[in-house]
Amino acid sequence: VAGIVDSPVARLPGLPAATRRHHASHKGSYGDVAVIGGAPGMAGAALLAGSAALNAGAGRVFVALLDPGAPALDQLRPELMFRRPDTLDLSGMTVVSGCGGGAAVGELLPHILQTADALVLDADALNGIAADPALQKLLKARSGLSTVLTPHPLEAARLLGSNTGEVQRNRLAAAQDLAKRFGAIVALKGSGTVIAQPDGTPVINVTGNARLATAGTGDVLAGMVGAALAARLAPMAATCEAVWRHGDLADQWPEEIPLTAGALAGGCLPVAR
Ligand code: APR
Ligand code: MG
Repeated sequence: VAGIVDSPVARLPGLPAATRRHHASHKGSYGDVAVIGGAPGMAGAALLAGSAALNAGAGRVFVALLDPGAPALDQLRPELMFRRPDTLDLSGMTVVSGCGGGAAVGELLPHILQTADALVLDADALNGIAADPALQKLLKARSGLSTVLTPHPLEAARLLGSNTGEVQRNRLAAAQDLAKRFGAIVALKGSGTVIAQPDGTPVINVTGNARLATAGTGDVLAGMVGAALAARLAPMAATCEAVWRHGDLADQWPEEIPLTAGALAGGCLPVAR
């Protein structure tokens, strides 16, 4: 995908162009994603992320819903494998956490941060980390592993101990500060998503538009990043790829068809690998 990021700040070197699956590949070649989220009333967020990860090419997708009364199957997406959060072995998995997880996801974070192979932290996972210095320490200890934070401006502000106005006035600096502070890739979402890495120049994504300003599109992005990490793209490349495609989907969306998060998840195409 040449010119994946058209940025006044930096341009990424060429990313892999082929989106096809290799002939002799198998589902293990594309990795496992585990989505952990979906507190009572928010199960949809985790299902959106899981659905997006599946469509974006992950080999297998597990969903662990934190609502004890949640159904054990999504009959419309039978490919998604439902597991109880406490019985899911996270080693070797790309974990997508947050996604409507509420406070319950916070309790699982010590385990998630210490065992996930690759990790996407979104929404309530980020809020939990912002509120707990012990979790911040565990996050920093992952430095060297694939870890991606996908905050919207308020979530970024909570992590920085700042406020949304400050973050938005200096989005590049906020994203870079977070990346350095936690030793992770950071996608600071919103119009012109900024993707920063601990060392190196941040990039500004040019795709996407305000039709994405609808509930659940962030969960779809988290699932897409998860699939790209599971496919073993390097974390910076994986994040840029997913953010670019997420926005591009919205840019290509037919005007007469409503853009909802569910439809967006359904429109995901496999990531380049
Ligand atoms: N232009 C381009 N992209 C946009 C625009 C815009 N004007 N508005 C939104 N987007 C994109 C963002 O870049 C991001 O990828 O849509 C996505 C929105 O993600 P979130 O802000 O996380 O929104 P949402 O998915 O609804 O979050 C649901 O989780 O993060 C919590 O507090 C949040 O409870 C809410 C829930
Ligand atoms: Mg969100």
